[in-house]
Amino acid sequence: MKSVSSAITTLGETPNESLFSHQQLLSAAEGADALFITPADRLDSGFFQKVSPSVKIIATFSVGFEHIDLEAAALRKISIAYTPGVNHEATADIAMLLLLGASRRAYEAQELVRTGTWKPLSPDMLLGWQVGGKVLGIFGMGRVGQAVARRARGFGMKIHYSNGSELPAEIVGDAVYHKDPADLLRVSQFLSLHAPETPQTRHFLNSKTISLLPPGAIVVNTARGGLVVDGDLIAALKSGRVAAAGLDVFEGEPNLNPEYVSLKNTFLLPHVGSATIETRTAMGMLALDNVEAVLNGKPAPTLIKS
Ligand code: DGY
Repeated sequence: MKSVSSAITTLGETPNESLFSHQQLLSAAEGADALFITPADRLDSGFFQKVSPSVKIIATFSVGFEHIDLEAAALRKISIAYTPGVNHEATADIAMLLLLGASRRAYEAQELVRTGTWKPLSPDMLLGWQVGGKVLGIFGMGRVGQAVARRARGFGMKIHYSNGSELPAEIVGDAVYHKDPADLLRVSQFLSLHAPETPQTRHFLNSKTISLLPPGAIVVNTARGGLVVDGDLIAALKSGRVAAAGLDVFEGEPNLNPEYVSLKNTFLLPHVGSATIETRTAMGMLALDNVEAVLNGKPAPTLIKS
């Protein structure tokens, strides 16, 4: 067996920043024992039909794994590992940044300062929406959702959540559980999305679900762009039905619907939820631990069970 370091084909190691094509991914896999990939690398059934038989493990540098066809991987008996448990604090920080950035109109405020169009203070300049005392609805109360709840409480927000199952009070404190996500939406003056993208959650936020939100709600998404129907959210942002949105993730990213950019009531980031030195290092080390374990005939510490 090759040593771990020489066995890993690190798909992101080339200096150019363009995505690997399907064919480049397959070529990179030739003769490799392990692949280290990112969510930008889409491993579909076609990939798994053709991938080199040398590959034993694929470690994704992410907690999300919607970019990997797990059934196709299982048919080829390739272990798939991910990086849970290390990115929630950093991602929750970004959710709060988006929540505050959207509610306090940070994009417009930055624009005034940076373009030299800041006029003397007027009492109604850039009035935003206070977060204290408002209901924050958290859709998906996993590690990130819980970390957001902890932070938002410090800002005086009331926490409601929807999740596959109700969580014990030791974990969620006094947060109010809504079994039906529609009931969560009805009370969410602020809504923060923290569910994984699955066939069930795909396009969760659409014109119908947006219509359940209190008028002037604020939407935050640090989970996956695929949870949102962009056209519907954009229409709601234009009409003011949704007052503002803070978004770190986009369907089809790094390409995003250009209308998000032209709107003033959006606060947009380029998928930087986990982008701290500490978190990205922990993610990388965990991915490598998985590779090392499998190549040494041991169980991967954070294998995805398909
Ligand atoms: C994850 O870990 O899935 C984050 O979205 C970063 O890719």
